[in-house]
Amino acid sequence: MGFSWWLSMIIICHLLAATLISSDTSLSSNKLSPTSSEFLNFAKKREVFDWMVGIRRKLHENPELLYEEFQTSELIRRELDTLGVSYKYPIAVTGVVGYIGTGRPPFVAIRADIDALPIQEMVEWEHKSKVPGKMHACGHDAHVTMLLGAAKILKQREKDIQGTVVLVFQPAEEGGAGAKKMLAAGALENVAAIFGLHVMPNIPIGEVGSRSGPFMAGSGFFEAVISGRGGHAALPQHSIDPILAASNVIVSLQHLVSREADPLDSRVVTIAKFQGGGAFNVIPDSVTIGGTFRSFSKESFVQLRQRIEQVITGQAAVQRCNATINFFEENAFYPATVNDGKLHEHFRQVVGDMLGEEKVNEVKPMMGSEDFSFYQEVIPGYFFFIGMADASLGQLESLHSPNFRVNEDVLPYGAALHASLASSYLLQLQQNVKVAEGMGHDEL
Ligand code: NI
Repeated sequence: MGFSWWLSMIIICHLLAATLISSDTSLSSNKLSPTSSEFLNFAKKREVFDWMVGIRRKLHENPELLYEEFQTSELIRRELDTLGVSYKYPIAVTGVVGYIGTGRPPFVAIRADIDALPIQEMVEWEHKSKVPGKMHACGHDAHVTMLLGAAKILKQREKDIQGTVVLVFQPAEEGGAGAKKMLAAGALENVAAIFGLHVMPNIPIGEVGSRSGPFMAGSGFFEAVISGRGGHAALPQHSIDPILAASNVIVSLQHLVSREADPLDSRVVTIAKFQGGGAFNVIPDSVTIGGTFRSFSKESFVQLRQRIEQVITGQAAVQRCNATINFFEENAFYPATVNDGKLHEHFRQVVGDMLGEEKVNEVKPMMGSEDFSFYQEVIPGYFFFIGMADASLGQLESLHSPNFRVNEDVLPYGAALHASLASSYLLQLQQNVKVAEGMGHDEL
């Protein structure tokens, strides 16, 4: 413990020294400052802000669903070309990975998800979605824009970057496990850490929210077909009623959390789908139910999955029905989003320098999920919310609402935070190497 305290004091001293150097020498400094309010000022400049707003609105007008983000991907590559950023494409169908800096280690990644949702936009405005039934209702259009904004900021300072910033434009966050495919394609090879963000309607603009450790739940989905024997509704003795069987299954499933789980180990089982029958006087052959289950630990997750299967098949059998269950394992299981403790400290420091310590809201864990968690299973990762609330805009609707709106004032904050988190973490990694090298000499 004493050793790590001593080491961190050395790192802090180095960081302070770098800060002093760069505050003296503005853009011509040879070190990237970890205090990056100048990044924010740059991103807020009228021409940079207008450029970002233009990109975001273009994306908003042309939403594309998971693994179909071809125009989105093309726009990203066009902007990277204009900025002079090299990239790899295609990765995971439509994904793009850009590189800014020395092209050598250390590598630190910043990530944006790029897909939209199958939702009909209800907001009437000039740049409403032009595609019926599809909408950027989760703000991923803003995420793409902020990552491009970060690229613009970092490109200005490329010669000062102490390593390489990896820009991860990832498809299919919404139910397609795009992060898993990006990893399988080698997008994060040799990357030391990754940062990701999500716009949040209920956190004030200019503020952020996050926490160390478990942040968002792991999630799974399931669908079950419960089959009986259809017949006349007036002669139930000649049928096997799958509607009653499914009803009992649903009630029994609600016991998994209330009676089998530790009350202090948060879990959710929700049946969100119940389809069966079509006439007042017909007992149908089968019923389809489906839903989601959530937990923070892997053990709880595995246990829930196993018990859901047992309860559905067992309870259906009690009612003389058969059940088949699909857990969509390939794409539907997302691990819990767990933030690295050291990266949390780095985040607090960067936000504190840029916006003030009081702008960091420690938020409670939530049962929503995010496929950023796949990255965190492999390397240290950090995910945070970036606020959009502004009284002058009225109440902003929640994520996934057909009335969802983005407060575009968030764009400079996201761009500057991305750029600052990555570049100052690279600097920190280099300082660690230098400290370690220095220690080696002392020992000799
Ligand atoms: Ni989202």
